[in-house]
Amino acid sequence: MSKCDGSVQVSTSIEVTEKSFLNLRAGLLRPWLDSLAAHELLSRYRRVSPTVRLELGLRLRICPFEEVARRVPPEGAVLDLGCGYGLLSLLLVGESNRREVVGIDLQRERVEIARRAARPGESVQFVQGDILEVPFGHPTCIVMNDVLHHIPHTRQIPLLCKCYESLPPGGLLVIKDVDKVTVWKYIWNYVHDFIRNRNLPFYCLDTPILLALLEMIGFEIEITRLDAGYPYPHVLYLCRKPS
Ligand SMILES: C[S@@+](CC[C@H](N)C(=O)[O-])C[C@H]1O[C@@H](n2cnc3c(N)ncnc32)[C@H](O)[C@@H]1O
Repeated sequence: MSKCDGSVQVSTSIEVTEKSFLNLRAGLLRPWLDSLAAHELLSRYRRVSPTVRLELGLRLRICPFEEVARRVPPEGAVLDLGCGYGLLSLLLVGESNRREVVGIDLQRERVEIARRAARPGESVQFVQGDILEVPFGHPTCIVMNDVLHHIPHTRQIPLLCKCYESLPPGGLLVIKDVDKVTVWKYIWNYVHDFIRNRNLPFYCLDTPILLALLEMIGFEIEITRLDAGYPYPHVLYLCRKPS
């Protein structure tokens, strides 16, 4: 059972200050972008339109995918909620064939592109659906990379509770999202989403509030700021369901 009954006690103390934007080698210019894994990942999308390809290249540059992937256990059933074009799901199966990944996204076009980018025999599936409605089954790990801020505030707690209930004891929820600590990064992110994801609403939560919600639900949480070298306020939440 989660603690969604209102018995709230927040215990984690957090450091929410931004990390230097000027450290570009940690962010926009990080060496990982030249790695075999990054090139291999992008090469899967050779047949998409130039616009989508450009978007995918930019997405890899502005978001620390490899840092998110590194937190996912190397084996077991993984659910990638709001998987978009499948970048993270495919990175996860590319790194370890002991992961069985299911990616779910609302947008049919993105799901179809993700399916075409998967290789025959790979343990990855892409499903078109609404993560607020579809059953999650029993994954050992759930990831949400830049998705929670597109979920209306009134649906965020039920969604996080659903994640908690679907995980086994010891299971992991990995959330990478953005917050409002650094005003210029928040505004930049808002403008980016307004231009690129105008069809999706923007419901960014501040780190202390999301932390309180996750603790209220019952997760044990570790928070890492990943915004060094990025103009985006990236924050990673590693949320473990107690054993
Ligand atoms: C900013 S994109 C991130 C995509 C992917 N996670 C990534 O990191 O590249 C947010 C994605 O969440 C999806 N999304 C938003 N609300 C959703 C919902 N209720 N059910 C399923 N997908 C949703 C959108 O369609 C979009 O592809």
